[in-house]
Amino acid sequence: LGAGRAAQIRALIRDVPDYPHPPVVFRDITPLLADGPALTDVVEAFAGMHLADGASALDGEIDVVAGMEARGFLLGAPLATRLGVGFLPLRKAGKLPPPVERVDYDLEYGSAAIELRTGTLHPGARVLLIDDVLATGGTARAAAELVERSGGQVVALAFLLELVGLGGRDRLTGRTVETLLRVG
Ligand code: PRP
Ligand code: ADE
Repeated sequence: LGAGRAAQIRALIRDVPDYPHPPVVFRDITPLLADGPALTDVVEAFAGMHLADGASALDGEIDVVAGMEARGFLLGAPLATRLGVGFLPLRKAGKLPPPVERVDYDLEYGSAAIELRTGTLHPGARVLLIDDVLATGGTARAAAELVERSGGQVVALAFLLELVGLGGRDRLTGRTVETLLRVG
C-alpha cells in the first residue's frame, strides 16, 4: 500500500473507545470490508507483501492460508483464492467436531482457545497466517503453535493493523511478521 492509499484505508477502520469495555479502543474493520476497492487493495497488498527471503506469497512460496476466527476468515479466504491455494480455518474452541488440536491463549479482553481439525494440514505445508489485528499477540502466537503442532511450517504472519503499544511482536520473536498499517 502506498502512503496515500494506506491513509484512506486507515480511515475506513473505525476506532470505538471503551468497547467491549474500558480502556480498550476497539478497531472495527467493518467499514473497510464494506468498501469494495479498499477490500480488494488490502487483499492485493497481502498477496504482494515481501516475506523473509524477499519473495512474496505470489511467488508460490505458500501452500495454504490459515485465518483466525472470525475476522481472519474475512481477509484470509479472499487472499487464498487470490493465491490459488486452500484456506484453513483456525476456529474458536467447540466449533469443530473431534478430533482436534487445541491451544489456549489470553486476549486483550479475555481468554480463548483455538482448534484445528486433526489431519487437515499436509505434513510440512508452508502456511501464511492472516488476521485483522495484532494486539497482544496472544492469538497469533497460539495460532502459530497450533499450525506447527499439526505439522505445518509457519512462513509468515500477516495482519491488517498492528496495535504497536500492546507489544504483539515481542510475543512473536523469531517469526516473520508483516503488517499493512500500524497505530500507536
Ligand atoms: C481479535 C482479532 C484478533 C485478536 C487479536 O479477535 O481479530 O484475532 O483479537 O488480539 P491479540 O493479539 O491480543 O490476541 P477476537 O478474539 O476478538 O475474535 P473475533 O475475530 O471473533 O471478533
Ligand atoms: N483484538 C484485540 N484487541 C483489539 C482491538 N483493540 N480492536 C479490535 N480487535 C482487537
